[in-house]
Amino acid sequence: MTLDRRTFIKSTIASGVALAAPAVLGQQPKGTQSYRTALIGTGWWGMNILGEAMLSKQSKVVGLCDVDQRQLNPALERVKKETGDTPKAFRDYRELLEETRPEIVIVATPDHWHPLITIAAVKSGAHVYVEKPISHTIAEGRAMVNAARAAGRMVQVGTHRRVSPHNVSGMEFLRSGKAGKIGMVRAFVHYGGGPETPVPNIDPPKEIDWDMWCGPAPLRHYCENIGNPWGNAVHPRGFRNYLDYANGTLGDWGIHWMDQILWWTEEKFPRKVYSTGGRPVAGPAIYNDREQTTDAPDHQVAVFEFESFTATWEHRKFAHNRAEKGENVGCHFYGTEGTFHQGWQDGWRFYPTDGRGEPQHQSPQLHQPDDQNIKELWADLLQSIQTGTRPVCDIEIAHRSTTMSLLGMLSLKLGRNIHWDGEREQIVDDDEANKLLRREYRGAWEYPEA
Ligand SMILES: NC(=O)c1ccc[n+]([C@@H]2O[C@H](COP(=O)([O-])OP(=O)(O)OC[C@H]3O[C@@H](n4cnc5c(N)ncnc54)[C@H](O)[C@@H]3O)[C@@H](O)[C@H]2O)c1
Repeated sequence: MTLDRRTFIKSTIASGVALAAPAVLGQQPKGTQSYRTALIGTGWWGMNILGEAMLSKQSKVVGLCDVDQRQLNPALERVKKETGDTPKAFRDYRELLEETRPEIVIVATPDHWHPLITIAAVKSGAHVYVEKPISHTIAEGRAMVNAARAAGRMVQVGTHRRVSPHNVSGMEFLRSGKAGKIGMVRAFVHYGGGPETPVPNIDPPKEIDWDMWCGPAPLRHYCENIGNPWGNAVHPRGFRNYLDYANGTLGDWGIHWMDQILWWTEEKFPRKVYSTGGRPVAGPAIYNDREQTTDAPDHQVAVFEFESFTATWEHRKFAHNRAEKGENVGCHFYGTEGTFHQGWQDGWRFYPTDGRGEPQHQSPQLHQPDDQNIKELWADLLQSIQTGTRPVCDIEIAHRSTTMSLLGMLSLKLGRNIHWDGEREQIVDDDEANKLLRREYRGAWEYPEA
């Protein structure tokens, strides 16, 4: 590093770029207060977050909520084993909020549930750690920001790459000017995959309240693909590839990299977006009374036009091989002095422009399980509650990153360019596109108004 940390923090604060200094160092904030903590959505990632909350020794786990007893039971057992706490179990988050009055709520349900649960939690007086993407549609995100502000509660979002040590040092590298003037950024996620076979619709298992799982989103036939949670199953984890509940790879993985782009630039939003893609390899989306496939694109390209640079997004779920060197996820920042790869399990790498020196590499410092930095993000939330300062992944920051992903999906659905007025959060002169900033909720669930 050329800039020492103190100088860099001073200069970034001056330029309005937020850095998570204590969290980056992995320190738990000082304090012995124990917060009444509840987890809503006791699946894979929720338990990773709760694990760090328990390790911080500043949480008393008072409630766990899941609509699937098979997810809830092991979570209850784990909490009891690791802390001795005996949280109350719930199927309905409203009862949890009412009966346990938590001070911190972790929201780790599928994406379509984040807005209603986060808003209910802050209104009940709790601070929130909610997972990314914050919302399924853009207007829900604005309602979440406003609800957090009106309630005066802290809302941290799980975009933990803002506190990963190699992402922080990578951002220092980019801001130091060592990569030169950056004119283009390319974000990408590539995995293997192939044609998709429909799976039969079945009755939901008796342990799951499927109607409540779907909640405000359409009530889809249940299906599962036992033994392959990343495959065609809707639940658990597979919801990412069903557009009723999530926004495919751009909404799921892409938001992390959109967030890195917005962290780097001083611009708040793109002004023009175009996206295309489809399912030429996965095959057409199928949904009928007998069977179904996913419906998210198997590849997608999006172009985001900013004032001073162009960003692109690419994902592909086929042809994963060694033709392209380097990590299969991340962001390439293309500068006049070289190309900087901000990655994940490989840390960051800098490839100087020809003749200008040797490549440089910074290894990551990630935690297990699953190579993440939740510990630092949890510490930052506690610190923000104690000091009254906004957390590093504040809801408004993550709303902008989520919006970037959702604009890409919106353009893909429309099949045309959209001009984004980021101040008004409206698409310019396009009524059809503006309708997609929100959606109808099902049954008695009410779409949150900003
Ligand atoms: N920040 C990260 O790096 C990261 C990584 C993985 C997942 N995530 C996010 O975490 C969230 C959860 O993902 P996951 O992979 O753990 O999914 P999962 O399917 O394993 O867990 C979600 C759980 O929520 C439950 N649920 C559904 N509706 C509910 C409701 N109304 N009330 C209570 N529980 C409900 C489900 O039954 C399930 O147990 C997603 O938003 C995902 O994007 C973030």
